[in-house]
Amino acid sequence: MRTNEESKTVSIDWEKHWERVDEPEGARDFAEKMADRLREFIENKKIGRMVDYGCGPATTLFRLAEYFPDIVFNGYDAAASIIRKNSEKARELGLTNLSFEQDSLPNPRKSKMFDLVTCFATLHYIEDIEYAIQKLFELLNPGGYLIFNYPSAYTRKNFREDIKPDDEYRRQRFAVLLAGKNLISQRRIGEILGARPKKFYSSIKSNIYVSVRKARD
Ligand SMILES: C[S@@+](CC[C@H](N)C(=O)[O-])C[C@H]1O[C@@H](n2cnc3c(N)ncnc32)[C@H](O)[C@@H]1O
Repeated sequence: MRTNEESKTVSIDWEKHWERVDEPEGARDFAEKMADRLREFIENKKIGRMVDYGCGPATTLFRLAEYFPDIVFNGYDAAASIIRKNSEKARELGLTNLSFEQDSLPNPRKSKMFDLVTCFATLHYIEDIEYAIQKLFELLNPGGYLIFNYPSAYTRKNFREDIKPDDEYRRQRFAVLLAGKNLISQRRIGEILGARPKKFYSSIKSNIYVSVRKARD
């Protein structure tokens, strides 16, 4: 069930965020580690086209596009400011297999189909999380994979302990999660997709990365 637009809890203004801020060092290091993990994953599979939703500065995609010149990579994000920066960088690097477009969850455009869809550190900001996950899964070709991390009750507990009462910025940024409006579990993910999520990346209990494969026709 879709929720009433008027009662929505919102995160920060990502458009302005990416006009002012560069990728933090910790996030870049992790994105590079994720590129290595995805490279191993992709290596023996038939992946023709991959998309990353909520790509931000797209460090992972830039790495993968360089490594796999025969795969087409797309990066989508709600913020036009980061799409502009990424597009310019891809042009400068001559990466013709990597392109970026503005697009928003929970209602992704369905103009292309993919063999691999990823979404990292982004569902945490989206209230209609179940709908978003279902829509991402719909973008897959039969036999394709959806890989993502998600906010759970453990994530919320950690964040509530971690974020100080006077830290207005983080309270706003993670408002949806702190309000408990988008918490989900592996079991629920399996139920809504009708396919079993497998652990993709070992992380702490409050930040689990899963991969879910779409059945072949
Ligand atoms: C914390 S950043 C994560 C960036 C990158 N995926 C990573 O893991 O480093 C969250 C990203 O989600 C984007 N975003 C926020 N709300 C979104 C939405 N509704 N649809 C698509 N992207 C969104 C933001 O602009 C931002 O780039």
